[in-house]
Amino acid sequence: MILNQVESLASKAFDELVKVKDVNELDAWRIRYLGRKSTLTQILRTLSTLPLEERRVVGARANELRRALETAFSEKKIELEQSLALLLEQKPLDITLPGQRVILGRLHPTTQTLDEICEIFSNMGFQVVEGPEVEWEYYNFEALNMPAEHPARDMFATLWVDLDTQAGGRAMLLRTHTSPVQIRIMEKLRPPIRVIAPGRVFRYEATDATHEWMFYQVEGLAVDTNISMADLKGTLFEFARRLFGKERKCRFRCDYFPFVEPGVEVAIDCSMCQGSGCRLCGNSGWIEILGAGMVHPEVLRRVDIDPEIYSGFAFGMGVERIPILRYGIDDIRLFYGNDLRFLRQF
Ligand code: FA5
Repeated sequence: MILNQVESLASKAFDELVKVKDVNELDAWRIRYLGRKSTLTQILRTLSTLPLEERRVVGARANELRRALETAFSEKKIELEQSLALLLEQKPLDITLPGQRVILGRLHPTTQTLDEICEIFSNMGFQVVEGPEVEWEYYNFEALNMPAEHPARDMFATLWVDLDTQAGGRAMLLRTHTSPVQIRIMEKLRPPIRVIAPGRVFRYEATDATHEWMFYQVEGLAVDTNISMADLKGTLFEFARRLFGKERKCRFRCDYFPFVEPGVEVAIDCSMCQGSGCRLCGNSGWIEILGAGMVHPEVLRRVDIDPEIYSGFAFGMGVERIPILRYGIDDIRLFYGNDLRFLRQF
């Protein structure tokens, strides 16, 4: 019985050895048939428990097989090593050839710009916070002084998420701007508040050279006693100076947003045409980078901050417009078009 086992082991081991192609496979073969846990070793270990006559026959055959397998292993090893040497001789390795180029990944231009913006505002004492991308209508519009049917909602072409039944009638949307984070922060913190909130925003609009349907904004909010328009202007001019340098021109004009009073827009002179007018700036010479203003007293009241005691400024800037201005990129759609030829330049 055990003798049969030894014989079938022998034929299996030699059959497999023929198929071994490299030293790794050979090593695995050695462990399988000659290793401490191999069947052959187990048989040799249990010889003493067999009746005398069987022990003599099986012992002789098992030991003979072990020696045969060891010899076959050594011969196969030499054969494999020789064939490797032969291969190297026929096809010598040219160690002077250059190595394969490793392509390094890099941060997306938007991420690089966000990092820079956050760094500048952090140095000015602003804390970086975040809010959700899928937002309640309340935070995106209502709490920002834009009740249902308010015409200003048209400024933000909205992508609605139809969750009517789950949300008990309350509507959700993909946030159209980062301004809802202002409300979330003012609900949680009491003045003095100084935060910036970077993140993705979404608009249901036709795309062109300066408009995407998904882009990034950085919201800014400062609330304290005695905050005035001069603080807003000083902060934004200082930011523009640190980011773009002294040479670039910066324009401050009146604008309207229902959640600020007064409201302003800030534009930088177009980098493509240096202000003379081109396709990128729609022939105006300027590219608008942010909307801003003094937080509307109604917005403060809603979050239980007394507008008689406190005032605040807020701004919301478009992030992609910054590298567009800096590097003269002539189309915002390049940012998320996944063309590595574009992305590798940054
Ligand atoms: C807003 O989104 C206001 N929440 C900004 C604000 C915040 C005003 C706080 C007052 C107080 P607006 O829609 O203008 O405003 O967008 C702000 C900036 O985002 C623009 O100046 C522009 O730089 C950028 N932006 C707007 N629409 C697009 C778009 N489709 N693609 C790329 N960037 C855009």
